[in-house]
Formats: sequence, C-alpha cells, structure tokens
Amino acid sequence: MASGKMSRAEALECSGCSQACHVMLYSDTKSQLFGKTPIKHIVLMQMRFDGLLGFPGGMVKPSEETLEAGLSRELLEEIGIALPISVEDHVESCFAPASLPSFSSSRLILHFYVKKIEEELIREVEKAAASTASDHGLEVLGMVRVPLYTYRREAGLSYFLSHSFIGNARSQLVRSLLRLHLVAPDKLHEALAHALQMHARSAKDLQAALTYTEAQKRDF
Ligand code: APR
Ligand code: MG
Repeated sequence: MASGKMSRAEALECSGCSQACHVMLYSDTKSQLFGKTPIKHIVLMQMRFDGLLGFPGGMVKPSEETLEAGLSRELLEEIGIALPISVEDHVESCFAPASLPSFSSSRLILHFYVKKIEEELIREVEKAAASTASDHGLEVLGMVRVPLYTYRREAGLSYFLSHSFIGNARSQLVRSLLRLHLVAPDKLHEALAHALQMHARSAKDLQAALTYTEAQKRDF
C-alpha cells in the first residue's frame, strides 16, 4: 500500500519482517495546573535512549509470542509493569518510515496501540518506570506527560510538539489526540503552527550554540 499501512493480519503474514509494538497510555484527570488550568487528560510518552521522544514498547517476536504479549513484555522492561494489552487496543500497523535508521536488514513493521487506564494506574506506572523498570536510565531515560493545554498562547502543547520524535511518533500522537477527542482540532492546528515557528527560533539558538562550541574547540 502507498501509505505503508496494512492490517494486523497482513503484517503477521510477512515472515521476513521485523515487528515492533508501541502503545499510548492515557487517562482522564481532574488535576489543574497552578490550581486553575484544567489538564483534562494525561498522555504518557518517554524520553528514549537516543534522545528522541517516543511511546513505550519495542521489538516483538511473533514466532514466539503474540504481538500483544510481546508488547506487555516490553512494557515490563520499560515501565516496570506488564500491563495487559489486547487486540482491541490495536489502532494501526504500517511499515516504518524509510528515513528511520534501520536496526536490522529486514523491513520493520510498526504496530500502534492505544489504551485508556485509570489515573491511579498512570501514577503507578510513573513510579515503577523510575524504580523497578529494568530499562530505566538505559533504554528509557524517563517517562513524560504530554501537556495537552495551551498556556499563555504558546506554552504547553505547542512547545512539546516542537521537540524531536522517533519515526512517526509525532503523527501517531497527533492522530490519537484527534481521534480520541483529547484536543480540539482548531487548538491542535494552532499548536502545530506555533511548534513550527518554534523550530525557526530553535534553529537560531542551535546556531549560536554551534558557534560557541566552534570557538571552544579552536581554543582546546
Ligand atoms: N515510529 C517509528 N518507528 C519507531 C517508533 C515510532 N513511533 N517507535 C519506535 N520506533 C522504531 C525504533 O527506531 C526502533 O528501530 O522501532 C524500533 C523498535 O522500537 P524500540 O522501542 O526502540 O525497540 P526496543 O525493543 O525497545 O529497543 C531495542 O531497538 O532502537 C533499537 O538498538 C535499539 O537497543 C534498541 C533496540
Ligand atoms: Mg522501546
């Protein structure tokens, strides 16, 4: 398929493909930022070992486990809790974007899941991810909540969206926020427009840092 999308069943027919599963965990919340800005929902992502933002999950072995069992196993390693994931939580499967640095010679198929859990469990996940998870500080540098609100025009969602994401994780996030009605389409559109402006500012900032280290390198 041109978009690289396929059904879960079609994906499993590819015996020569590597397969990876990732999940967006989220909950509702009544919490308020600074006691006045409603947060409404908590969406979990992670800072990965490669410095990019992504969803928890990883490589699975369909010859030895179901996709969902493999994802739960990855969750135990990365967030410290083997959350059960079911076929009903599956959202989409597609080939990894060609731009992604290849981690093996076979083509990589990515399966994306979304699971709603209770806020209490989100807190347990955050605690376990930083204490008992075997990947903490190694493959996973920390769990992060996605700020879904807009604070003082640009802060919050737009700054978050301007960061760098693994593969198609940003579009997985954007599509999920729309599909689950976690952010209104006009707010999301505005946040993405601000995120793009932020990129231009970041480029200047990066250039300044580069110039600074250039001078340091010369004097070393
Ligand atoms: N979109 C596209 N590709 C993604 C996404 C995403 N949202 N999330 C992860 N990937 C890619 C990664 O780049 C990687 O190639 O999927 C593959 C597996 O995902 P990981 O979560 O990185 O796999 P994990 O099993 O947790 O880690 C195992 O994989 O990334 C390599 O060498 C790295 O040691 C690591 C190994
Ligand atoms: Mg992983």
